Amino acid sequence: MSSSKQKTVLVAGGAGYIGTHTTVELIEAGYDVVIADDLSNADISAVRGVEAIVGRSVPFVEVDCCDTEALRREVFEKYAFDSVIHFAAYKAVGESVAEPLKYFRNNLDSLLSVLALMKEFDVHNIVFSSSATVYGQPDELPATEQTPRQRANSPYGLTKQMSEDIIQDTVAAVPGMRAIALRYFNPIGAHPSALIGELPKGVPNNLVPFITQTAAGVRKELAVFGDDYDTPDGSCLRDYIDVVDLARAHVVAVSRMVERTAAGAEGDRYEIFNIGTGRPVSVLELVHRFEEVNGVAVPHRIAERRPGDVEKIWAATDKANDVLGWHAERDLGETLRAAWAWEKRVRGL
Ligand code: UFG
Repeated sequence: MSSSKQKTVLVAGGAGYIGTHTTVELIEAGYDVVIADDLSNADISAVRGVEAIVGRSVPFVEVDCCDTEALRREVFEKYAFDSVIHFAAYKAVGESVAEPLKYFRNNLDSLLSVLALMKEFDVHNIVFSSSATVYGQPDELPATEQTPRQRANSPYGLTKQMSEDIIQDTVAAVPGMRAIALRYFNPIGAHPSALIGELPKGVPNNLVPFITQTAAGVRKELAVFGDDYDTPDGSCLRDYIDVVDLARAHVVAVSRMVERTAAGAEGDRYEIFNIGTGRPVSVLELVHRFEEVNGVAVPHRIAERRPGDVEKIWAATDKANDVLGWHAERDLGETLRAAWAWEKRVRGL
């Protein structure tokens, strides 16, 4: 890293769950960060949490990334950076089925704005938040980056597939541009400081926030969606990745592109990496492990399968391990303790 432009990263959607954790890891790795977020699904207190962890203020611009003019004026013209991490997107699978246009409009427009401005301002590198949802239910497990994508079963998932394709074609057409798409498996947990974590609005859709809220007494009981799948205990299998490990993967991805740009490296300018642990864990195992490591009960009952759920998926992580030199490090128990510590702090328990 030489110039300040190379050392600065725009984190679009940086006030959200993964964005805040990534901002912390970037700053701790020596990068400067500018956060752009419209706070549509985040709270400014999350940015304050980041600042408390890193011990300094972090430039924050409240802007809707779909608004190209505002993003140009408030961010691209005011700050010099050579890399963008693009988190700014809606992520509720069920809501995307009910309101597909909202998802296509927001998730695609924000990406298109960012890419157009990157081209205009000669910003080289982008990391994109993709998802294991692009694989659907693979025929063979674990899923590798070569596993064929299946048509996503939600508009949310479709926006991830379309975004990957948009980025791939843009990179091919814009000399010097590089992109890394990180296909996240199931991000869970919170920063060990308990100063940042996941803050879902309303009833959580995802398993771990539902577990922590049930343990805290905010929800009466957890519904385990299905115990008749073709899995060892009948509940679905997922690959739960600690959010701090996931955040570190973004730092490594940015560093790789900055270094390759500085070296004028030829070769693949668009790369995809799975980010998971490589270990399948069932819903019931996760619930029991949470209870065990935290010494707290999670009342639960078996319920109907949730429409749209895949039965089982976990990652092959060899490519991220070998090419990025990134490994999932945090133990599941540690992750579940951090998730509970964060929930207790939010609830004042
Ligand atoms: N589950 C329950 N009860 C709940 C919530 C979830 O039993 O109250 C189960 C689900 O049925 C599933 C597992 O917990 O088996 C994980 O569910 P999540 O909703 O936490 O996560 P998903 O695997 O459905 O979805 C996640 C991300 C999506 C992404 C998808 C890709 O949230 O953004 O992975 O596979 F698209």
